[in-house]
Amino acid sequence: MIKKSILLFVAVICMAACQTKKEEINFPKTDLASAPLIPKPIKTIPTGSAFGLDIGTAIYTSTTSPEFEKVGQFLSESIKSKTGLDIAVNTSSEDKLERLIYINQSDSVDLESPEAYQLYIKKDSILLNAKTATGAFRGVQTLRQLIPEKSNDTLADRPIWVIPSGKIIDAPKYGYRSSMLDVARHFFTVDEVKKYIDALAYYKFNTLHLHLSDDQGWRIEIKSWPKLTEVGGASEVGGGQGGFYTQEEYKDLVAYAAERHITIVPEIDMPGHTNSASLSYPFLHYAGAETPRVRTDMKVGYSSFDAKKDTVYSFLDDVIGEIASITPGPYFHIGGDESHVTKKNDYILFVEKVGKLVQKHNKRMIGWDEIAQADIDPNSVVQLWNSAENALKAAENGSKIIISPAKKAYLDMKYDSISEYGLNWAGYIPVDVGYQWNPETYVDGLPKENILGIEAPLWSETISNSTELEYLAFPRLIGYAELGWSPSEHLDWDDYKNRLAAQVPNLESMQINYYPTKLVDWKKE
Ligand code: ACM
Repeated sequence: MIKKSILLFVAVICMAACQTKKEEINFPKTDLASAPLIPKPIKTIPTGSAFGLDIGTAIYTSTTSPEFEKVGQFLSESIKSKTGLDIAVNTSSEDKLERLIYINQSDSVDLESPEAYQLYIKKDSILLNAKTATGAFRGVQTLRQLIPEKSNDTLADRPIWVIPSGKIIDAPKYGYRSSMLDVARHFFTVDEVKKYIDALAYYKFNTLHLHLSDDQGWRIEIKSWPKLTEVGGASEVGGGQGGFYTQEEYKDLVAYAAERHITIVPEIDMPGHTNSASLSYPFLHYAGAETPRVRTDMKVGYSSFDAKKDTVYSFLDDVIGEIASITPGPYFHIGGDESHVTKKNDYILFVEKVGKLVQKHNKRMIGWDEIAQADIDPNSVVQLWNSAENALKAAENGSKIIISPAKKAYLDMKYDSISEYGLNWAGYIPVDVGYQWNPETYVDGLPKENILGIEAPLWSETISNSTELEYLAFPRLIGYAELGWSPSEHLDWDDYKNRLAAQVPNLESMQINYYPTKLVDWKKE
């Protein structure tokens, strides 16, 4: 099959090269190595010439997998929205065809990771090799970043978008590169979440963690327990109307993310952070917790589920079961943070029992770092946000760790004292501080084999729409994309800040608001 697709590639190249009368375009000298790619690829070898993306270009993909064709379609749509060019996928008429982008499923041994790709950019062809459609999709993001905003209209009788030639060999450092969106403190609509997913995809993230429940609101329909959304979904921080996703809307989000090779990780935070659930169904309430009422404030640590009641676990069996059944990804996040009113024995009992429920529904448990205090299955994943000690304990248990320390990776921390939105309980995180740390060495003594990846969480106490969300997320999110993907020895703030400055046209075309920190010399038109 692979051989057949290479033959097709050669045949089409030949068609392009042999059948059309070619004009020689004299491209200005290019330097692929100085393209402002983020995340920075492992290896870039420039060859000084260029591929001219124009109306004579066609996309072909391996016929070995329909997923590759979808990646080709995604590239075609991206080119259309950036340049206006209509580039056909696998259907070009021969006489028009002059240049080719070929997305090839390759079994090359050099493509070790499923997200690895190789990009060979020549004058008449671009070859994108990947073992999986996910790898091809990541490579397409690199290609998107290489297409200039503006065409060159003087090289020929038509506009040409000049893509520097050369070779890129690339693969991610971590297999888990995530951001979290707190849709519980403030509700964000399906379209707002989709816009965030688009930005994540562009910077090669592969996971979106949705924080679907908290004291102030419950955001996902559970058919067997309808009051969760009827009662628990009708509030948010500051007194707004809240909201929730129907299961159909959640499935739509999951599918939208999957088309961008992004996995959704749903979180139901428990046993603490459960006021909205206990308000909906009072039997869930733990005697040591504050009496449930509509909460629109920003306090934490006062609510809890009752860890000793069987009915609580039958309720959770239903909740986890319904969400697991519409979540194709491997993970279910149980929260587990800041259960300050839950007695330690009850907390441990709860985490261990819920861990079994998650397993029963064929998901792998993730929890905030406190869950490491319980006897959890080594297959469970522990998310470091606060306690290095918990992360080390998890590693001793054989668990993998997601690195998302509040002091370095929380997108809701203010940039500085004049930031418009955000909190500062973990300190300020200016754009350079958010970039200049190493997830691999952040916890002293944590074996690097135990690190699953990194996440940049965005809590939403102070933000309630896309503009505010983006103010906190951008540009810092872009730096976390690079920390999760690129080898740490390649990372250098002075080099990065120039590449970051060059993201402005993309941010503007995606209509993404960003905090224009003075640390970066933004390249505005
Ligand atoms: C957390 O920030 N409470 C996980």
